[in-house]
Amino acid sequence: MDERLVIRGGRPLQGSIVASGSKNAALYALAATLLTADPVTIHNTPAIADIGEMADLLRALGARVERSGDDVEIQAAELTEHRAPDEHVVALRASFLVMGPLLAREGEAACAAPGGDVIGVRPLDVHLTGFRALGAEVVRNGAAWVARAPRLTGARLFLDYPSVLGTVNLLFAATLARGTTTIVNAAAEPEVQMVAEMLNEMGARIRGHGSNTIEVDGVERLHGTEFTVIPDRIESGTFLLAGAATGGDVTVEGANPRHLDSLLTKMNEAGLDVTAAGAGIRVCRRPGHDLKPIQLQAVPYPGYATDLHAPMAAMLTQAHGVSIVLERVFENRLLYVGELRSMGAHITAGGQSVMIEGPTPLFGANVRALDVRAGAAVVIAGLAASGETSIRDVIHLDRGYAGLSGRLRALGADVNRI
Ligand code: UD1
Repeated sequence: MDERLVIRGGRPLQGSIVASGSKNAALYALAATLLTADPVTIHNTPAIADIGEMADLLRALGARVERSGDDVEIQAAELTEHRAPDEHVVALRASFLVMGPLLAREGEAACAAPGGDVIGVRPLDVHLTGFRALGAEVVRNGAAWVARAPRLTGARLFLDYPSVLGTVNLLFAATLARGTTTIVNAAAEPEVQMVAEMLNEMGARIRGHGSNTIEVDGVERLHGTEFTVIPDRIESGTFLLAGAATGGDVTVEGANPRHLDSLLTKMNEAGLDVTAAGAGIRVCRRPGHDLKPIQLQAVPYPGYATDLHAPMAAMLTQAHGVSIVLERVFENRLLYVGELRSMGAHITAGGQSVMIEGPTPLFGANVRALDVRAGAAVVIAGLAASGETSIRDVIHLDRGYAGLSGRLRALGADVNRI
């Protein structure tokens, strides 16, 4: 496929859009359904490619999956396959999340090291060390990791790094283990909190989610539930940054300000007017005030989200002065830097930090969406640029942004998919 996104920039975005369901949280919710034989209904899943990939993966393991609009109904009455087929695994990092449920429920799980964005080494030691500590035997068989345990036993797990997927996988495994598991240095992301709440509604006994220490009392079985996915804080943040970069006035309805403290604080520091209410978030320029440069570091939640690093950098090309962004989560998040330079940005990378000198008038160019968030950065730059920007590899944007061009058009942008 050679589809492109063509943006004629220079128009301030104005108006409201509704936040989609969270991509990552929906992926975790889908994987969680493998823990029960009962039917589970998940509402508010976003219409993005990754959800389709995860649905196909669950089907390959024997689950019945039906999608209708934003709803997904899943029943994994019987799991006929304990190894995730490679073709599904290469496309999706979150595919490794089938390991925890399969191991806990079936006593055996296998999955190759997964794909997803090319944003760094992305090791699996947190997952594998945790499974071993819960009593599993974990070996490598060719490309696949294979884990086995007749029944897992609760343990105290210290995570070397608060890995998000690692925490979720270990939560899955611990829900059906014998005894209590304590996860120390757990990820606290809202998506992790959400999946813990969903598991509790399925009969799990989890406490402390949302903090760095999570405790799980294992239970014999989980049952079905009906659950609604939280709004996507990264998507919401991307639209708000796009509005700010174009000098516009954008409201994201349904966005949860409590999930975006770090972004909203930085937007305030940059001199933007941020109105955050229960119903959503509105961001616009303060009349007569320029955008100010800021410094930030991307770290685990509740710190500034690595997924909003590149979109923020694109906005900072329009700030008056020198901004610094330090990436401390992934070592290869900086793919967008070269693309923004080719659009006229004064941006340089040294090690894991990025220096942005603004304001620079950006101009349209032929660029690539090198990963989902690098893609978001070039979209924002294209919206703020004069002339025409043509973005290749839109497949990466499809992984994270539902109906992107239509929703940008609803905000007044001139965007077409060709
Ligand atoms: C998830 C999200 C991704 C987000 C990231 C950080 C999904 C599908 N993806 O990715 O959008 O950017 O969280 O918020 O939900 N690490 C280890 N050992 C491990 C695992 C990870 O050292 O076993 C390191 C990685 O090298 C990286 C850091 O931890 O430096 C963050 O990775 P992690 O939190 O695991 O990110 P993901 O869960 O892959």
